[in-house]
Amino acid sequence: MDLGRSILSFFASLLYGSTIFNPAFPPKDCHFPAIYNFGASNSDTGGLAAAFVQPKPPNGETFFGKPAGRICDGRLIVDFTAKSLELPYLSSYLNSLGTNFSHGANFATSSSTIGIPVADIIPRGPASPFSLEIQVLQFAQFKNRSQIIREQGGVYASLMPREEDFTKALYTFDIGQNDITHSLFLNLTVSEIKSAIPDIINHFSTNIKELYRLGARSFWIYNTRPIGCFPKILTLFPSAEKDSTGCAKIYNELAQHFNAELKMALAHLRIQFPLATVVYVDLYSALYPLYTDPNIHGFVQSLITCCGYGGSYNYSFDAKCGETINVNGTYITVGSCEDPSIRVSWDGSHFTEAANRFAFDRVSTGDFSDPPIPLKLACTLGKHLLGFV
Ligand SMILES: *[C@@H]1O[C@H](CO)[C@@H](O)[C@H](O)[C@H]1NC(C)=O
Ligand SMILES: *[C@@H]1O[C@H](CO)[C@@H](O)[C@H](O)[C@H]1NC(C)=O
Ligand SMILES: *[C@@H]1O[C@H](CO)[C@@H](O)[C@H](O)[C@H]1NC(C)=O
Ligand SMILES: *[C@@H]1O[C@H](CO)[C@@H](O)[C@H](O)[C@H]1NC(C)=O
Ligand SMILES: *[C@@H]1O[C@H](CO)[C@@H](O)[C@H](O)[C@H]1NC(C)=O
Repeated sequence: MDLGRSILSFFASLLYGSTIFNPAFPPKDCHFPAIYNFGASNSDTGGLAAAFVQPKPPNGETFFGKPAGRICDGRLIVDFTAKSLELPYLSSYLNSLGTNFSHGANFATSSSTIGIPVADIIPRGPASPFSLEIQVLQFAQFKNRSQIIREQGGVYASLMPREEDFTKALYTFDIGQNDITHSLFLNLTVSEIKSAIPDIINHFSTNIKELYRLGARSFWIYNTRPIGCFPKILTLFPSAEKDSTGCAKIYNELAQHFNAELKMALAHLRIQFPLATVVYVDLYSALYPLYTDPNIHGFVQSLITCCGYGGSYNYSFDAKCGETINVNGTYITVGSCEDPSIRVSWDGSHFTEAANRFAFDRVSTGDFSDPPIPLKLACTLGKHLLGFV
């Protein structure tokens, strides 16, 4: 293990210390032909909507002009990812209407967890039945069945990915937040949640290994966002101690604890799978300036919900974005703020399109990656070891 680690870090330092940034040997972009995404609401482009119900207006108002399966006024990080790689926006695997999977598929559904939701699943509880393990099973089916459909030719072929693209594709992950927040909403203590994290991270690694076995090689994995800055958390746990930005310390520490364990697990996977590129992306740190220095980045009122109602944070559990509520005998529909393009929080626990764009612009450079690889080179680590770069 130690020898493996030192060999790997030797090659990694060659790669990142000299080759990649040596202008005499510019690295080749990966030209990913497809994206396969696994996650929860932060990257759901219509999965939960297809299985259950569409998010209501004003979701989608900024970009799509109507609800588009996303819990956001517009696009998500996964949408900006597809755009930057010059690929179409990803269709959800669960969406049976009008889908085109020629350049990948999205297995994410809102409220998904890494851990297996035993009870408490939608519609009787908060968790999505499509946990990461189920999403990976769906991918395995997709991989086989898409090729059977492709063989029918014509329009069928044009809707399905090419077999050789599965290994060349980018695999992105944005999941774990609900493993923490669902437990918080069930009143588990922070230390109870912390003690469950190793198990959750273990589940995550098991699923990555399964995808590797199925041919995935390029993994781009987001850590968990600063949940202690979410209007929903600040509203539900009003007595939590705040940091200088007004975020609840203990919940951000919990997210960072999760992130530290995830980072370690990915370092292990990198050693186990030297031919893969496994990138840990510190989305938490990329987003934090939206709370410490919002004005510098063109944002205001970071802790206040754009589409919400009531209380100190414009968030109320009984009056969520898009819902119609009865206020003293008058029915009102919870709409959005005047200018979502300068706001951070869309509905109290999800980000606006503007914040998602900000996050994507920062993380795609590689400045928040470990190892420090930009998105367009997230296939190069294993290839370099094989002498392909
Ligand atoms: C896909 O096909 C392979 C080979 O034919 C088979 O071993 C595997 O079990 C199949 N997987 C699924 C999910 O059907
Ligand atoms: C599916 O999308 C691909 C890429 O955008 C396109 O070339 C193909 O024609 C589409 N298939 C159909 C049936 O629209
Ligand atoms: C959690 O605790 C709060 C405050 O004591 C209580 O109102 C709520 O019903 C509890 N939630 C659950 C799921 O037990
Ligand atoms: C509803 O009516 C009560 C009693 O008149 C008043 O105190 C309260 O502010 C009203 N709520 C809203 C949201 O207008
Ligand atoms: C709070 O949400 C309402 C919609 O219910 C919106 O009109 C208002 O602008 C929001 N407040 C702020 C400060 O964004």
